[in-house]
Amino acid sequence: MIICQCAGVTDTTIRRLIEEGAGTLSQIIRLTGAGRCCAPCRSEIRTMLYRHADAPHTAGQATHPTTDVS
Ligand code: FES
Repeated sequence: MIICQCAGVTDTTIRRLIEEGAGTLSQIIRLTGAGRCCAPCRSEIRTMLYRHADAPHTAGQATHPTTDVS
């Protein structure tokens, strides 16, 4: 499913990057180009980051999605 229409970035790509350690919205934007144009996709990316951070397998390991560590 396309998350960012402007950059053509899919949920699969974003999920893979999150699983590989991208823990902030700005990291996802920098790595994919998503969210740089009209930006409504940012809320969906944030939701994906929150869901991953709340998942039991990442409890205690994930960076809070609103905290940019770059
Ligand atoms: S839909 Fe992602 S920047 Fe426009």
